[in-house]
Parts: sequence; C-alpha cells; structure tokens
Amino acid sequence: MSEHPSILLVCLGNICRSPLAEAAFRDAFDNAGRSAHIESAGTAGYHIGRPPDPRAIRVAAAHGIDISTYRARRVNTNDFSAFDYIIALDSSNFDDLLMLAPESASARIVLLLDALPGQEGQSVADPYYGDYRGFQEAWAIIRNAAQAWLTKI
Ligand code: 4NP
Repeated sequence: MSEHPSILLVCLGNICRSPLAEAAFRDAFDNAGRSAHIESAGTAGYHIGRPPDPRAIRVAAAHGIDISTYRARRVNTNDFSAFDYIIALDSSNFDDLLMLAPESASARIVLLLDALPGQEGQSVADPYYGDYRGFQEAWAIIRNAAQAWLTKI
C-alpha cells in the first residue's frame, strides 16, 4: 500500500460515472483512515466546467455524499505524470487513455473493474441515456470496485 497515492478516475463526459467513482474512492479511503489525492476527468470535452448530472448528484446524496460542487474537466497530458493511477470506467475510455498517453507517462493506466474477480476487462455501462435506475446500478458497481482497489493501491 502506498502512502498518499494519487488517483484519477476517467469516463467519457465526467458528469456521470467518474464523479461517482471520485466520490466512492474518496469515501473508501476516508473510511479506511487513509489519505489519497483523488480527482476525476473525462476523455471528451462536451461538459467542461459543468456539475455532475442531476441523477448522479441524487444517487451520491442518497448515500450521504455531496458531489454537487464537482466540476467536469478533460484529461490532459500532465495527468499522465501527475497521477500514480489513472483508472478508466470503461474499455473505450481505457483505449482512449492509452492513445492519449505521452511517451513520458508514468501513471499506471488500468480498468476499474479489473479489481473485481470475475469482472476483469468489463466496463461500467454508461447510464447517461437511461433512467435513474442505471445510476443506482452504476453506483453499486463503482462502490464495490473502489473498495476492492483500496487493498491494491
Ligand atoms: P459519463 O456519461 O461518461 O459517465 O460522464 C456521459 C455523459 C455525457 C455523454 C456521454 C456519456 N454525452 O454524450 O454527452
């Protein structure tokens, strides 16, 4: 276990899955009494500067976590050396990160669900075009994965 690891959670828009992952990782590290630097970002720039989707805010609030102050940003070149871990929410984001990574990248680029036995290589489905239930399902998966990463980071 490294002391004060830095972790960047990455999805497409940075308004649905990765803000929930940021919240879940912060909560997992806090509850374990461990310090970490945790952020989230998107591979796309559609929602830069915006708060999370209202449904993501709602599902986090239902679990006692306020993410309404989070603001979307895009992954940048510096992230690949600034963070110890860059964790992708789905395999498409993972592939994009490998393409964006500069030669000098030092971050370990991994897939979120690789920490869950039996779910390696799988993706957290994008809930954006669905209903609130999809956000509840995403939250449950993401929270389990965050807990699993805690023992590996
Ligand atoms: P996220 O979800 O990647 O989990 O933040 C999405 C948000 C917005 C869009 C797609 C996915 N979009 O196409 O605008």
